[in-house]
Amino acid sequence: MTGGKRVLLIIGGGIAAYKSLDLIRRLRERGVKVKVVMTAAAQQFITPLAAGALTAEKVYTDLFDREAEQDVGHIRLARDTGLIIVAPATADLMAKMAQGLAGDLASTVLLATNRPVLVAPAMNPAMWAHPATQRNVATLKTDGIAFIGPESGEMAESGEAGLGRMAEPLAIAERALELLEAGSALPARPLAGKHVVITSGPTHEPIDPVRYIANRSSGKQGHAIAAAAAEAGARVTLISGPVTLPDPAGVTVIPVETAKEMLAAVEAALPADVAIMAAAVADWRVAQEGSEKIKKDGSGQPPALALVENPDILSTVGHLAGNRPKLVVGFAAETQNLIANAQGKLQRKAADWIVANDVSPSTGVMGGDANTVRIVTHDGIEDWPTLGKTEVARRLVARIAAALETAEG
Ligand code: C5P
Repeated sequence: MTGGKRVLLIIGGGIAAYKSLDLIRRLRERGVKVKVVMTAAAQQFITPLAAGALTAEKVYTDLFDREAEQDVGHIRLARDTGLIIVAPATADLMAKMAQGLAGDLASTVLLATNRPVLVAPAMNPAMWAHPATQRNVATLKTDGIAFIGPESGEMAESGEAGLGRMAEPLAIAERALELLEAGSALPARPLAGKHVVITSGPTHEPIDPVRYIANRSSGKQGHAIAAAAAEAGARVTLISGPVTLPDPAGVTVIPVETAKEMLAAVEAALPADVAIMAAAVADWRVAQEGSEKIKKDGSGQPPALALVENPDILSTVGHLAGNRPKLVVGFAAETQNLIANAQGKLQRKAADWIVANDVSPSTGVMGGDANTVRIVTHDGIEDWPTLGKTEVARRLVARIAAALETAEG
């Protein structure tokens, strides 16, 4: 049911503004009534006439437009809607929002609103990665603003690529409908005030200065959980082995290489309300790391590499006496006897839940984008359908939030 749903779309000044015209169409196709506010900069890229033709509504551009003020007024514009979408959200517009500035119609509406706000950033990758922008993003998330994107890819400027492209209009429209249907004044932030520590990625265990033992973990699932926990309002410390993924927005990332470093970083990050150990930690490391590159000695015999067991981070955290997080979640990536092995881990490592997944090569889970998981707890087993890793992350975070709420009564 989308009848009666209304969106106020604030279009910022960027080349992605042309995609906002498509966004209007996608929203209208879904039965959503759209009003548009355009910043002065947006009008350098697209015209109010084009936006007006697509919305069949007056387009608002000026804070001091007497006619518009008599008509609806900026306060009504800010509140008389189910949702505000800012797309494209420029670095400048996000900085104004984070600071609470209200110098033009767009920023005034954003300050005056009591409705949910969905922001779709679009900017040059260097501007997105800048600590000032990331600070603003973190502030806005803490304020309850929902984000979609940016995505990585080619930029409009030739030769520029990276994280900064606006999310696709269809994805924005779908997210907007979710928020409209949720109908709350602010997007739910069920983990606000909680600290979540997450491990992700593989570890690299050096053999000598140039070689190491590793595994095929991409870190996608752990990083997606970190992003979902941050979106849910948590303070997130992500301790990551070597991965090629971008740092999730609004998350403190601590890069490590080895299992020993990962354990030390986890211990330093505590206390936490929740620990999610999603890293594929190498079980063994080389007993005596070579200080020089190991050479063939001409005998035809390979060197004997003695291995020693790594510390088990999940088990260490699960067995903590004083500082144990309320909820300790581990993963079990198995190629056989999935449930029996997961249940064994639950007991041995003193975890509360084990997220079990089949990583047989035929499943494509390792490094892929989809995952079929089962949640093994002390109360039973829950089967989840095959989902994208982002969706698995969101559901897991929602389940964690619900469990904390029940525990805290
Ligand atoms: O025993 P196995 O490696 O299958 O256990 C997987 C779970 O234990 C994962 O949650 C993983 O992050 C964690 N683990 C760990 N430290 C290790 C080995 C595994 O935290 N050394």
